[in-house]
Amino acid sequence: MKRAKWIFLWLCVGLYGIILTFLFSCTTQNRMPVSPGAQLISEADYVGREGCAACHEEIVADFNSTLHNRMQISGPEGQELDLTCEACHGPGSLHVEVRGGRDTPIILPDENPEACYQCHRDVQARFFQEYRHPVPIGKMSCMNCHDPHGKDIYSPVGVKMFNREDVCYQCHQEQTGPYVFEHEALREGCTSCHNPHGSINEKYLVQRDSNLCLRCHGQIAVSGTVVMGDFSHTTRVAEGTCWSAGCHTAVHGSNINDHLRY
Ligand code: HEC
Ligand code: HEC
Ligand code: HEC
Ligand code: HEC
Ligand code: HEC
Ligand code: HEC
Ligand code: HEC
Repeated sequence: MKRAKWIFLWLCVGLYGIILTFLFSCTTQNRMPVSPGAQLISEADYVGREGCAACHEEIVADFNSTLHNRMQISGPEGQELDLTCEACHGPGSLHVEVRGGRDTPIILPDENPEACYQCHRDVQARFFQEYRHPVPIGKMSCMNCHDPHGKDIYSPVGVKMFNREDVCYQCHQEQTGPYVFEHEALREGCTSCHNPHGSINEKYLVQRDSNLCLRCHGQIAVSGTVVMGDFSHTTRVAEGTCWSAGCHTAVHGSNINDHLRY
């Protein structure tokens, strides 16, 4: 009897240990295996992160606290190389041979989004939609909104941002406000209505019709009438989008009308 109790106790301890191991293996201690992707510079060979550290000591050291540092990428033939830097910059042997410098064979992802697309195919698909930020035509780059070397991937280089939506403010101040009557939806971020990368809908909207607004504004049906915000909207919703002329055209906020009419 006593022995069974002990076995039970030890089993519990063992199970606890296993659970702990699992918990910890999910934190930054373990790195996520990722395939090296396309060979972006065909004539060059990989040299590994150590090979970059010799000259870019600071970048390599700072990189430890970035999101992409969680990737674990070994050589295409399984070599013991850490290809994290070269996943974005392409194999670096030619750059290293000439002792580095500008205008050498090394990929600059801000000029070539393909470097990011090789792993972020879903984002690439967005930028192939009809309505998108002008990244594919080279007028903007991922780095207007992302900082792959930074602690916060969402803060563009050189600017300390407090939240993701601040990146929109830099270029779209008119929509960001402040307004006398702010649309509280903005507090959940621009991305609650816009896909920052692109969409099949105009203005990169995540939904093209009234459903965009109905995601947050529930309708209450009372004996055949549809009520929203204390008003009957029974016929209105059928007339067009909620932000069509005459309705809530000041969708981001208004300085004159608390129902965001204009
Ligand atoms: C022998 C020294 C050396 C090594 C090793 C080295 N670099 Fe460089 N790299 C340089 C120098 C010098 C520059 C120019 C810096 C400048 O002008 O501020 C440079 C510039 C760069 C640039 C910018 C190029 C441009 O056109 O603006 C990138 C990207 C880069 N290195 C990536 C890497 C990567 C990735 C590795 C490892 C695979 C690496 N470097 C290894 C010396 C080196
Ligand atoms: C997720 C993609 C990505 C990874 C991984 C990455 N870089 Fe970069 N790197 C970039 C981008 C994008 C730029 C251009 C930055 C800009 O537009 O300001 C850049 C610029 C550079 C430059 C030139 C500009 C500068 O700041 O001097 C060097 C050097 C460089 N990277 C080295 C490295 C090294 C070394 C590593 C590995 C520790 C690394 N990078 C990992 C995306 C990446
Ligand atoms: C070798 C593959 C690879 C390349 C190349 C790459 N990424 Fe990533 N990226 C990843 C992985 C894997 C994650 C997920 C990391 C995680 O969730 O821990 C990620 C995460 C991100 C995230 C954050 C997603 C989130 O969870 O919030 C952003 C933003 C991002 N990458 C942008 C870029 C940009 C910009 C480039 C090009 C400069 C780039 N990536 C290049 C593999 C890659
Ligand atoms: C106009 C600003 C902007 C540009 C340009 C941009 N992004 Fe983003 N990206 C964002 C914002 C904001 C989010 C957060 C979205 C969210 O939380 O819903 C994001 C999220 C992401 C994510 C993680 C979540 C997801 O949607 O998959 C990845 C990966 C990413 N971006 C990669 C890229 C790459 C690669 C490029 C360039 C080809 C790029 N982004 C260009 C603003 C931008
Ligand atoms: C670096 C500047 C820059 C940043 C940052 C930026 N945008 Fe833009 N945005 C632009 C430019 C330029 C256009 C116009 C594109 C065109 O004319 O095709 C645009 C267009 C748009 C449009 C469509 C406008 C229209 O009339 O069709 C929307 C919506 C938009 N951006 C939302 C956002 C959101 C949301 C963010 C933050 C995630 C953001 N933008 C961040 C530069 C920026
Ligand atoms: C509640 C949903 C919603 C939120 C949140 C939202 N937008 Fe919009 N946005 C819209 C709609 C709807 C349109 C289309 C208006 C039209 O066609 O008249 C639009 C249009 C735009 C345009 C195109 C120019 C214009 O005013 O028509 C830009 C740029 C834009 N939004 C940026 C932003 C930015 C930046 C944020 C965050 C600060 C943001 N939006 C938050 C719904 C939203
Ligand atoms: C992310 C959630 C969210 C989305 C999406 C959203 N709203 Fe809102 N909206 C709110 C919140 C929160 C309030 C403030 C509380 C309230 O009045 O319900 C608000 C308030 C309003 C008001 C003021 C209410 C009044 O007193 O008259 C109007 C008008 C409005 N929204 C219209 C829209 C329209 C039009 C859309 C679609 C383009 C939309 N909303 C999409 C969250 C959202």
